[in-house]
Amino acid sequence: MQIYLDTANLEEIRTAASWGVLSGVTTNPSLMAKEKGADFRATIQEIASLVDGPISAEAISLDAEGMVREGQEFATWHPNVVVKVPSTTEGLKAVSRLARDGIRCNVTLCFNAAQALLAARAGAFIISPFVGRVDDIGVDGMSLIREIVQIYRQHHISTLVLSASIRHPRHIVESALAGADIATCPFKVLEQSMKHPLTDIGIERFLADWKARQ
Ligand code: E4P
Repeated sequence: MQIYLDTANLEEIRTAASWGVLSGVTTNPSLMAKEKGADFRATIQEIASLVDGPISAEAISLDAEGMVREGQEFATWHPNVVVKVPSTTEGLKAVSRLARDGIRCNVTLCFNAAQALLAARAGAFIISPFVGRVDDIGVDGMSLIREIVQIYRQHHISTLVLSASIRHPRHIVESALAGADIATCPFKVLEQSMKHPLTDIGIERFLADWKARQ
């Protein structure tokens, strides 16, 4: 399973990229809005210069025409740009049109496996089921990943399953176990994933023993 960073913050991307673990980045309008005053195009291009992999940029139009127009523009920014469109019928229309032009789409805000199947049939490159937001309404988000993975495998569908709305390190582990192709993680969760008290205690003990050696 590949690891993407779910942020538009360049400092976070620079730091996580320096760890050598990033295969891509996802952004969305809320994440972009957090970067006060940042230009969308310049930010996406800067991200693409930091990470060599798919970079998702989300369209804000609600109609297929608008999404296609935005997607065609985003695609001129960098060859690694993937256009994010919502799991709606207009989104499907936009995906099939953009896919025909060779523009890759990430179908986002996916909350059931039927949406995932239709997105794949429309030609989605990536499907993004939102695990954390499903958990938030008291339903097991990870079972959504399991269902989609099973359907895609059973029907030889090549659309990549990206586990989104990741809230804690256990979500990363369970996504990998469920067979997701990608997990997109907030910086905080990636950092948290590498922390363990026994690792810290182990380092301290090794250093103490080394210093005390004869
Ligand atoms: C991913 O592509 C989504 O933008 C993101 O994971 C949403 O996460 P949230 O539910 O924490 O906003």
